[in-house]
Amino acid sequence: MEDIMNFIDLRSDTITQPTDEMRMAMFNAKVGDDIYDEDETMKKLEKTAAQLVNKEAAIFVPSGTMGNQLSIMTHTKKGDEVIASDCSHVLQAEVGAASVISSVTVRSAGTQNGVIKFEDIKNLVRGKNIHFPDTGLICIENATSEGTLMTIDQMKDIYKYALGLEIPVHLDGARIFNAAIALNIDVSDIASNADSVMFCLSKGLCGPVGSILAGCSTFIEKAKRNRKMLGGGLRQSGFLAAAGLIALNKMTKRLAEDHENAKILAKGLSEINGIQVDISKVQIDMVFANINKTNKSQKEIVKELLIRGIKANDGREGDFIRFVTNNDVKKEEIYKVIKAVKEIIN
Ligand SMILES: Cc1ncc(COP(=O)(O)O)c(C=O)c1O
Repeated sequence: MEDIMNFIDLRSDTITQPTDEMRMAMFNAKVGDDIYDEDETMKKLEKTAAQLVNKEAAIFVPSGTMGNQLSIMTHTKKGDEVIASDCSHVLQAEVGAASVISSVTVRSAGTQNGVIKFEDIKNLVRGKNIHFPDTGLICIENATSEGTLMTIDQMKDIYKYALGLEIPVHLDGARIFNAAIALNIDVSDIASNADSVMFCLSKGLCGPVGSILAGCSTFIEKAKRNRKMLGGGLRQSGFLAAAGLIALNKMTKRLAEDHENAKILAKGLSEINGIQVDISKVQIDMVFANINKTNKSQKEIVKELLIRGIKANDGREGDFIRFVTNNDVKKEEIYKVIKAVKEIIN
């Protein structure tokens, strides 16, 4: 634990430690067997979560990946085709689960600034033809996996079009609270443009484990059975729900601080010779620094940062290093990171 706390860790907004308040709430949580419908804390979390996004019901899942996959499984039938963006989490980072769990194929739409293109969706939706699979679902993201935002108008266009064709829309809102703050709108206004929404308690909000899938009551009822099938029927899960309630009621309110720190970091890095940051794409808590005009590789820079007690993400292909601001990194540490990168590059 000492080790974790001493690093300035900007690899992701998932690395945060649960707050002291969360730890106390978990310790004191009233729990029961959730499969018997007896966990009061879990019920409270699911009710709170559904109300926040103005959906009829919600279900807790252990991860964002399970939430997205559970949604695909619940919306679609075997053989359907799902449309998702070519850089979406569903397509790129969920181990091809949709084909294994739901027996569906995923067809990729292009993106602009990380946002799925409406024109591409329209071109990819299938008509009725004996040769074609049915388009069973459209998956969108807000905020996107690239840390950018979809406007409400962009969401409305897609949802209106999908409603007309009776194709359901699932929103991967892993960082929906970041999106709401950055767009300066209520989170329910974002969620109203999709039939189902998944959001994470453990990204930026310091929850130790868990995500939420919300939608209409019949959808969530079906999802509950499917979650059981995936081995996700949970027992005394109220311990996690207790932290999740603090994530939703309190930690959502401080995300603007992470966004401000990301902007400071982006500006500072962009002023270093050889580093390029597209500041217009720094819209929530993520900063992508292109280092290809420096004399060092991505791996070398990340290694040298680590020696200086700073963790950054070199998991991406190409020349980008990703930095994600979070609750465990304070503003003064952001300036230390800029100084360290400057030293390494110059
Ligand atoms: C946009 C998006 N969706 C879904 C997920 C999956 O969440 P988890 O890591 O909890 O499975 C992530 C994780 O980083 C994400 O960024």
